Amino acid sequence: MIESLRQEIDALQQQAAAELDQASSTEACEAIRIRYLGRSGRINPLMQKLKDVPKEQKAEAGKLLNGLKQNLQKNIEQALKNYKQAEQDAQLLKEAVDVTLPGRSLPLGRLHPITQTLYELYGIFAEMGFQVYQTREVESDEMNFQMLNIPPDHPARDMHDTFYTKTPGVVLRTHTSPGQIRLMHERCPGAIRAILPGKCYRFEQTDASHEWMFYQIEGLAVGQHITLADLKGTLTAFVHRMFGAERKVQFRCSYFPFTEPSMEVAMSDKRGGWLEILGSGMVHPVVLKNGGYDPDKYSGFAFGMGVERIAMLKYGIDDIRQFYGNDLRFLTQF
Ligand code: PHE
Repeated sequence: MIESLRQEIDALQQQAAAELDQASSTEACEAIRIRYLGRSGRINPLMQKLKDVPKEQKAEAGKLLNGLKQNLQKNIEQALKNYKQAEQDAQLLKEAVDVTLPGRSLPLGRLHPITQTLYELYGIFAEMGFQVYQTREVESDEMNFQMLNIPPDHPARDMHDTFYTKTPGVVLRTHTSPGQIRLMHERCPGAIRAILPGKCYRFEQTDASHEWMFYQIEGLAVGQHITLADLKGTLTAFVHRMFGAERKVQFRCSYFPFTEPSMEVAMSDKRGGWLEILGSGMVHPVVLKNGGYDPDKYSGFAFGMGVERIAMLKYGIDDIRQFYGNDLRFLTQF
C-alpha cells in the first residue's frame, strides 16, 4: 500500500517539477499551484487515500503526503518570486525614461512688430504725461467727419475713401480723430493729455505704402494755456526719443479741416533728405466747441500718425503689406 503511494507521490512530484520548469511567468506558476494544491487539485485525491492506509503505516504515509505538499508549495513560491521580480524588472525597463536625452524646446511666440511699436510709443508718450484712451472703430459719419469740421460736401472727404456699413450714417473710422470728440465730451471742462491708438480703415487700393486696415495714434492736449510751442516741443521730443537725438525736425504748413494752423512733421534722414512722419495742428475752434470747450478760453493741439509708417521708418521696412502677410520669415525678425 505505502509503496504504491510513494510511487504516486514521486510521479506527481516529478510532473510538477517538470511543469514548473516549463512555466515562464507568474501566471503560469499560479495555474500550476491551482492545478496541484487547489481545492480540486491533484494532491487532494492522494490525501483521500490516507484513510485506506493500514493503521501502522498511517504515520509514515501522512509524513510523505505532507512532505509532498510542503515541497510543492515551496517550489511554486520560489518560482513565483523569481518571475515576479523578472516581470517587474522588465516593466521598469520598458517604462524607463532616458534622462540624458536633450529636451524638446517649444517654439516661442512673440509680439507682432506693430504691437511692439505701439508699446514703444505708449512708453514715450506716457513719460510726457499722456494717458491711453481707447475709442471705437465703428463710428458715425457725424463723429468721423462732421464734428471734425468736415461737412457732407467737403472736398477733404475725397482723401478718406470710406467703408460704409449697411446702416446709414455708420462707417468704419477712417482715422482716429473722431476719438478726439468722444474724449472731449467725456472730460469737458477738464484738461486733456492723451493718445488714442487703434485700427483705421480706408477703402483703398493696396500698395507698398497703403493698406485698407492700418493703425494710427492720435494725440490730443486741451487746456487753458496750450500753444503751438507745446505742440512743437512735444513732437520734437517724440522724434528724438523714437528715432534718435541727431534727427532734425521740420514743421511744414499743411491743411486739415480740424486743425488751424495745420502742420506736417518731417524728420531728417541719413542722406540729408526729409521723411514725412505725421500730421498735426492746433485744434480748430469749431472742433473745440463741438467737444464742449469754449474756444475763447481753451486751446489744444492734436496730431495723428500712422503706426505702420513709424515702424517702417524705424526698422527700414519698405512694404507695408509685410505686416499683414503672416509670413513668419518676416515676423520672427522682430
Ligand atoms: N486725422 C489725420 C489723418 O488721418 C491726421 C491728423 C490728426 C492731423 C490730428 C492733424 C491732427 O490723416
